[in-house]
Amino acid sequence: MQNNIAPLMDVQHLEKRYGASAPAIFSDISFSINRGEFVCMIGHSGCGKSTILNILAGLERPTTGHVSMNGHHVTRPGLERGVVFQGHALMPWLTVAQNVALAVRARSPGMSKTDVHQQVLHYLNMVNLHDAQHKRPSELSGGMRQRVGIARAFSTTPDMLLMDEPFGALDALTRGVIQDELLRICAKTGQTVFMITHDVDEAILLADRLILMSNGPQARIAEIVENPLPRNRVRTSIHHLSGFYDLRNHLVDFLVHRSAGTRQASH
Ligand SMILES: Nc1ncnc2c1ncn2[C@@H]1O[C@H](COP(=O)(O)OP(=O)(O)OP(=O)(O)O)[C@@H](O)[C@H]1O
Ligand SMILES: [Mg+2]
Repeated sequence: MQNNIAPLMDVQHLEKRYGASAPAIFSDISFSINRGEFVCMIGHSGCGKSTILNILAGLERPTTGHVSMNGHHVTRPGLERGVVFQGHALMPWLTVAQNVALAVRARSPGMSKTDVHQQVLHYLNMVNLHDAQHKRPSELSGGMRQRVGIARAFSTTPDMLLMDEPFGALDALTRGVIQDELLRICAKTGQTVFMITHDVDEAILLADRLILMSNGPQARIAEIVENPLPRNRVRTSIHHLSGFYDLRNHLVDFLVHRSAGTRQASH
């Protein structure tokens, strides 16, 4: 019973400093992520969002504080956490299909060659890249590389997806298609997601909860906002829902007027 209600990930009092006498980039960052929940973090450039995501991924260590997942301390990367980086981080010597296959095989070592290939193609289709499967990253545009990174993370079906501005480099049409696909996957599989975005509309569409960061240095969580809109949100009609503009205005107002002046957590 206890296990069912415990959060999937628990983040306690994270602080990060580069150098003992340097000011903290951020401090007292505490929140939890429940299984099946979609959490977005929003804040201005430099407040430490990528650093926080890297700590959740186990790629970086906090100066103080800790992260646990499923009750275990996160101290290193793990296949149960799939990461989409702000930059694409692909293996340059491998083709698109090989980059994705590498991740699928790492996650499922016993999977047959045919099944790996099928899984790879399924996720390359999702991001509309099946025609580029034999190309190398250097032959792709920035948006295409980012889409390979997205296919790679999704293809491993991780317990937790950690995504750092995954759709930033994409054109509006592709972005919409992948947002829809992400919503579909989340509804179908109960995927848990932590995602950083600068896009307020994207956050309202995707997130169940939004973590608003004050500006750095010494950034804090200024506010955690529950998304009051029903979960079956649809991109093309979400703006007709009552409450949409109230939430949107609240977020824009925070980013424009309040993020600089907020130093105390109020959640
Ligand atoms: N290795 C490092 N040494 C010193 N300072 C660093 C290092 N890595 C990051 N920083 C600083 O930490 C702060 C937070 O960086 P981070 O990349 O986490 O911000 P961010 O919120 O993701 O920004 P953006 O929205 O631009 O991606 C920045 O001021 C950055 O200069
Ligand atoms: Mg960043």
